[in-house]
Amino acid sequence: MKVAIIGQGYVGLTISAFAAEHYEVLGFDSNSKIVNQLNLGKSHIEGVESALITKWIKQGRYKATNSGLDLSEAVVVVIAVPTPLTSDRKPDLSYVESACKTIGENFFKPVLIINESTSFPGTLRNFIKPTIEKYSPNPVEHLYAISPERVDPGRSDFNQKNTPRLYSGLTSEATAKTREFYSKFCDNLVEVSSPEVAEAAKLFENTFRQVNIALVNEFAQIAHALGISVYETLDAANSKPYGFMKFTPSAGVGGHCIPVDPTYLAAVAEEHQAPATFIRRANEVNLEMSEYIVRRVAEDNGGSLQGKSVLVVGVAYKPNVADVRETSAELVIKHLRSRGAVVSWHDDIVGDWKGEKSAPLAGADITVVVTMHDSVDEKNILASAPYVFDTTGKVKGAKGL
Ligand SMILES: NC(=O)c1ccc[n+]([C@@H]2O[C@H](COP(=O)([O-])OP(=O)(O)OC[C@H]3O[C@@H](n4cnc5c(N)ncnc54)[C@H](O)[C@@H]3O)[C@@H](O)[C@H]2O)c1
Repeated sequence: MKVAIIGQGYVGLTISAFAAEHYEVLGFDSNSKIVNQLNLGKSHIEGVESALITKWIKQGRYKATNSGLDLSEAVVVVIAVPTPLTSDRKPDLSYVESACKTIGENFFKPVLIINESTSFPGTLRNFIKPTIEKYSPNPVEHLYAISPERVDPGRSDFNQKNTPRLYSGLTSEATAKTREFYSKFCDNLVEVSSPEVAEAAKLFENTFRQVNIALVNEFAQIAHALGISVYETLDAANSKPYGFMKFTPSAGVGGHCIPVDPTYLAAVAEEHQAPATFIRRANEVNLEMSEYIVRRVAEDNGGSLQGKSVLVVGVAYKPNVADVRETSAELVIKHLRSRGAVVSWHDDIVGDWKGEKSAPLAGADITVVVTMHDSVDEKNILASAPYVFDTTGKVKGAKGL
């Protein structure tokens, strides 16, 4: 059975690697460089080993392509393309639209179409289905379903196999076929009554994280103002065995999901005249955290950062990955530079970023730790500058939140 997976990024390639054990996978990506690399057996995604892609290619179970014509024999099509925000922070479905165009123009017999891209409730029913129909030269009765992706890049304890997967189709036949498709490589399938519930659940999961991270970030500022340790207070609260879940403060939120998905929920809420107050404010609190941190660093250093050499440690959005999408390090660096600091950064996992290279972990006036990879030694951080501010709570002996 042939399966086409549209988008070969974090989500699409991860699914491809799991699905190839059971199906013949056609990995479609509009980026020809990615396609060429994949066909050479080179994975560009952390957590997907090149050796595995090579193995599937050799066994004839995987092929990457950027030609829609190659897809037509597939009977299941999975959409895994980006759903970012526009420059004015509105949902941007242009990549989804382009994936729908590829599907509409290349599938003339009914197939099962599953959306894994994150979007607001109603996207499958009111956007994906009509858009595919718009681009189909003749009417085709495809089956439509949603199964939002929950992959957490860099995580080894939860993967495609053991992470519960929500799913629902526009019809009962679509729901049943979706269950059949995923049951080969996912042990825990959770059916919900409509695609809208699955779409909303995915957004709510990430909004829950965003709001709680904002709350703890605000609390870190309160604790500092009161002269008490935020970390000790959080540990104390966490001794309650029920009704509390511990989140830790940080320089903000990063990655493709937490800073973006809640805005999709807020946008659809406001379109339906429902409030999105917490969601909007949480986003602001998280974005303001970088400015707060730089202010604290400046205060500790005589009020001015003019001409000081500042080393930012860790520019990936979270530990042990090279992903810099929406990283809060970017805002920290921006605020440091706007105060006249001479900023370099150290992150051996990221290596190159925005035309700059990772600097040695040494010789700064000030070090600010934004993301702490396991490979970085605490002692080297403390030795890198006479003043170290740690936003992660992991460097003992440093100043911090
Ligand atoms: N990365 C995560 O941790 C994660 C987790 C859960 C859900 N999601 C969601 O999954 C979706 C995909 O995210 P991602 O992280 O895999 O993105 P990504 O940027 O890593 O990969 C997307 C890929 O799609 C390709 N692409 C873009 N438009 C295309 C088109 N029209 N046709 C074919 N290929 C196209 C890009 O070249 C890229 O390789 C998003 O909606 C995201 O919110 C991501």
